[in-house]
Amino acid sequence: MGSFARGAGYRSRFIHDFCDSVELAEHLSAIAGVHLGRHSVPAVACGINYAPEDITRAVDTWHVDSVAFDVVLMLSDPATIKGGEFQFFHGTKDEGQALLGIRGEEGRDAELPCDRVKTIAFPAAGYGFLQQGNMIFHRARRLAKKVERVTMIPSFEVLPASTRDATNSINMLDWSDPGLAAELARREVWRAAARLNGLLDTISLSHDRSTLHRLIGDALEPLHSLQESLEKPDS
Ligand SMILES: [Fe+2]
Repeated sequence: MGSFARGAGYRSRFIHDFCDSVELAEHLSAIAGVHLGRHSVPAVACGINYAPEDITRAVDTWHVDSVAFDVVLMLSDPATIKGGEFQFFHGTKDEGQALLGIRGEEGRDAELPCDRVKTIAFPAAGYGFLQQGNMIFHRARRLAKKVERVTMIPSFEVLPASTRDATNSINMLDWSDPGLAAELARREVWRAAARLNGLLDTISLSHDRSTLHRLIGDALEPLHSLQESLEKPDS
């Protein structure tokens, strides 16, 4: 894929404030039908993607995202861009990944049957769409001609913090961004604390030992998994 700047909110006050905008989160929540807030991991809350210098390479290979909800916002004028189309597989991610022989968040530059592939056209710079990034198998094709193609990817997570959110923190632990492991740890501590707090209302005197074991285990599981992954040395 091309180059990218994760954590763009660290570099630009405008991008930080845009991604943090309550109006944006409310608008997207109404579309998604679930309460969304700016992603709690600053490094992934907003990324900027650039087309690669080498236009024989895909702008982005077939993949799913590590976050549950993200916006793909076109910043360049699409009228100037030949190729580089954003496409998604019309089917489940499992089916699409099986066709290409990949799993998880792995990416692959390959072709899927064209009758199963849909292209999303951007009418102009500034247009974007919301996707369930961890469920939609998608890519951006290679450019036909060398030109600037820049997209901004604000990411969101499901709120309140005690609810389920499909962010794959463990996958992101392998990314090289400075401070990312600590940001992911803070996120999982925050969400585990919210789930544990919820248990104060959920646990009843009539719950038996196995139910209590399950409730506490469910509340702690994502944090435990991250903690176990932290045992591996930095890659
Ligand atoms: Fe993506």
